[in-house]
Amino acid sequence: MKGQRTAALAGVVATLGALAFVQEGDTPQESPDAAAETAAVEQDPRAQPIAFPHDIHAGEFGIDCQYCHFSAERSVDAGIPPVATCQGCHLVVQGRNNPEEVAKVRDYAQRQEAIPWVRIYKVSDHVRFPHMRHVAPDESGQPLVQCQECHGPVQEMAVIEAVNQPLSMGWCVQCHVERDVSRDCAVCHY
Ligand code: HEC
Ligand code: HEC
Ligand code: HEC
Ligand code: HEC
Ligand code: HEC
Repeated sequence: MKGQRTAALAGVVATLGALAFVQEGDTPQESPDAAAETAAVEQDPRAQPIAFPHDIHAGEFGIDCQYCHFSAERSVDAGIPPVATCQGCHLVVQGRNNPEEVAKVRDYAQRQEAIPWVRIYKVSDHVRFPHMRHVAPDESGQPLVQCQECHGPVQEMAVIEAVNQPLSMGWCVQCHVERDVSRDCAVCHY
């Protein structure tokens, strides 16, 4: 599957300079499978089943983060959109630069299969991280914490970069101190 994807991307990249970034970051030699499974799959989001570009969606076309991550404001998880959300646009939008990647979206939809996205941000099971408490609006209607403060300038990323990794207790607590938020163990730990 990896070979297929690389070949497909190489074909697209060969004809489209705009996508040169996909190739630039490629390591020259294949890493051993075991290493690729641990470090690379987590840290290398190019392992995603579809080359989903955040910069095009959230940057160029200005689609709101929560149009797709629609549970962030009311639930613990921000959520990854189901393929039906993609199809809402991609039934019509074929993709000028990378139609092969958009075709994959349609294939998943036709097979009624969920797209197996690789998860990047994940805290341990003993930690509770409630998105809704962080992105809830303050008195002025702005989110208490912007998505970008924790996830970086996602609207500029062709491929999601893993920032603030690994997600450590020190990182959480430092901001809770700055913002005068509770540091009770039981607030974050089950
Ligand atoms: C058109 C839909 C869409 C929009 C708009 C969108 N995203 Fe995403 N987002 C996705 C999909 C699909 C994934 C999974 C694939 C990937 O990681 O690139 C994802 C993944 C992510 C992840 C990584 C999740 C993980 O841990 O695996 C973060 C963080 C994220 N998005 C933040 C944002 C932010 C912040 C914005 C707004 C600036 C945004 N997204 C806008 C669809 C979208
Ligand atoms: C609100 C509309 C909208 C939604 C929802 C949406 N997209 Fe897109 N997507 C676009 C637009 C517009 C483009 C740019 C197409 C172009 O430039 O030709 C695009 C581009 C793409 C591209 C790159 C194609 C290219 O030619 O550059 C991929 C891959 C893609 N989308 C996948 C997805 C996936 C996967 C989802 C669901 C998680 C999704 N999109 C949801 C509107 C949307
Ligand atoms: C205060 C820091 C912080 C803010 C603000 C924040 N996130 Fe997250 N995000 C995290 C952490 C930590 C995780 C891992 C959570 C877990 O494993 O339960 C995460 C996970 C995610 C995921 C992975 C899937 C999921 O459902 O958890 C997505 C997608 C995501 N965030 C998108 C967003 C978007 C979009 C926003 C803004 C609306 C946002 N985040 C705001 C810290 C943050
Ligand atoms: C950039 C700042 C920032 C970071 C980083 C951050 N938080 Fe928060 N956290 C906040 C703010 C602001 C609130 C909202 C407090 C409120 O509702 O007034 C909050 C609230 C919470 C709450 C609810 C507290 C309560 O009293 O019920 C929990 C739980 C929590 N955060 C866990 C975490 C965890 C776990 C992490 C790290 C994975 C984290 N936070 C990282 C700023 C942050
Ligand atoms: C603001 C959120 C937050 C608060 C408050 C907090 N922790 Fe944590 N804690 C975390 C996060 C996040 C991790 C790292 C989890 C991971 O590795 O994914 C962690 C990790 C730990 C670990 C290490 C467990 C392991 O994974 O190896 C211990 C032990 C721990 N915390 C104890 C405490 C104690 C005791 C307190 C109270 C004095 C406390 N924590 C308060 C968020 C918090």
